[in-house]
Amino acid sequence: MLSNAVQDKLNAQIAKEAFASNAYLAMATWAENLGLPNIGEYFYLASDDERTHMLQLYKYVNANGGKAVMPDQLGEPQREFGTVLEAFKKVFDLEHTVTLAINELATWCLQNGEHATYLFLQPFVLEQQDSERKVSEVITIVERMGYEERNLYYLDKTFKKINQGGESA
Ligand SMILES: [Fe+2]
Repeated sequence: MLSNAVQDKLNAQIAKEAFASNAYLAMATWAENLGLPNIGEYFYLASDDERTHMLQLYKYVNANGGKAVMPDQLGEPQREFGTVLEAFKKVFDLEHTVTLAINELATWCLQNGEHATYLFLQPFVLEQQDSERKVSEVITIVERMGYEERNLYYLDKTFKKINQGGESA
């Protein structure tokens, strides 16, 4: 059974993952409206990833005698970006915010004897490290290919490969 304290912490993390999923959807709209369908798809895939994390936490809470709660307000995500580079720098910030939150939660679990939840969180800790590395690679690609208007056609095409996992910096 989960203690009330750990349940509250997990519900707070559920809200953060849901916010990240929404933030990626806002980015998908921005990219698609600019005629960048493959960059849009990158954001849809990232949104799905965050929703998957959210559901894993949600189900863990309910499966262990707790009550998972999705808040009705998640906060307003950023909807406009100056350039593709700016958008991906925001992606890095978003992922880093989630990394800090997961690390803080894992540290709290260890210090408070919540060992099962601490172990449950380990894949999340490693996945955040992986996410930050991948976003850094994408930022390098964007910087190298250029993100001026004249570069956007080929930059977007490159995201087709990135989305298939076939291109990295
Ligand atoms: Fe996540």
